[in-house]
Amino acid sequence: MAATVKAPASSANLGPGFDTLGLALALYNTVELEEGGPGLELSVTGEGEGVLDQRPEENLAVTTIDRFYAGLGRARPALRVRMDNRVPLARGLGSSAATIVAALAAANELSGAGFSKDRLFGLAVDIEGHADNVAAAVYGGLTIAYRQGETFQVRRLGPADSIGGVAMVPETSLSTAEARAALPDQVSRESAVFNVGRTALLVEALLTGDLSAAGAGLEDALHQPFRRPLIVDFDSAAQAAIEAGAVGAFISGAGPTVAAFYDRAVEAEIKAALPAALAAAGSKRRALFLDVDAAGVVTD
Ligand code: HSE
Repeated sequence: MAATVKAPASSANLGPGFDTLGLALALYNTVELEEGGPGLELSVTGEGEGVLDQRPEENLAVTTIDRFYAGLGRARPALRVRMDNRVPLARGLGSSAATIVAALAAANELSGAGFSKDRLFGLAVDIEGHADNVAAAVYGGLTIAYRQGETFQVRRLGPADSIGGVAMVPETSLSTAEARAALPDQVSRESAVFNVGRTALLVEALLTGDLSAAGAGLEDALHQPFRRPLIVDFDSAAQAAIEAGAVGAFISGAGPTVAAFYDRAVEAEIKAALPAALAAAGSKRRALFLDVDAAGVVTD
């Protein structure tokens, strides 16, 4: 028995939609499971190769698979686990969520448990802790994850095809724990109202493709002002994107990737101008132009 599953990268928050909005991106982590072997064999290619496979007992895919089988009340079979990671690690692009979701879906397939996507979503949130990234990795598209009592629910939307996105990925990483530790426990009513308005504007822009108010719609008062000191070149990356033709820029997830939206009518111009604008600003960030993933986690 074998199973191969891929799950997409994601950008969480999208500026004002803190811990709520997620956008799935066409860049994938793949988990392949094959029954057999002496116990557990793990290999990793791509991001984290030679690092993530050093200690199988601490590997996120392996620990996730173990939790899945423990939840079934069954022993994990002897397995060969192959990970192929294309999502940069600890950059605010949902690499952990993609790995957890792919590992759960692969174990679901291999075990014959037959859990639904909704059930896998709940399990993945329990492990990952951030429903916004997990929602995008499971369902694809633009997701709204919201707490309902003890659980999280998701609405999945399709953003307008006319909107393009770029992720400016730095060489350095930032842990989500550190980026969350920078946030205050209390926010003012003014900040809360600011974000309610911005989030409404942003969702309207993403659904209609009318980006005229999207620059304002990407502004945020809940997390970005506190994380910017940890992402010292945020302003230069954001400015480079806007000069190249983007409507606004934001911290992707907990950072340090900075992302931006633009109208595809100017795609050729922005693709030509952004790398040079980043270089002129002294930035070593890579510009990754990424399509939206519409499918979420997929079993081959
Ligand atoms: N919404 C979470 C945060 C995403 O901003 O901390 C973590 O990837």
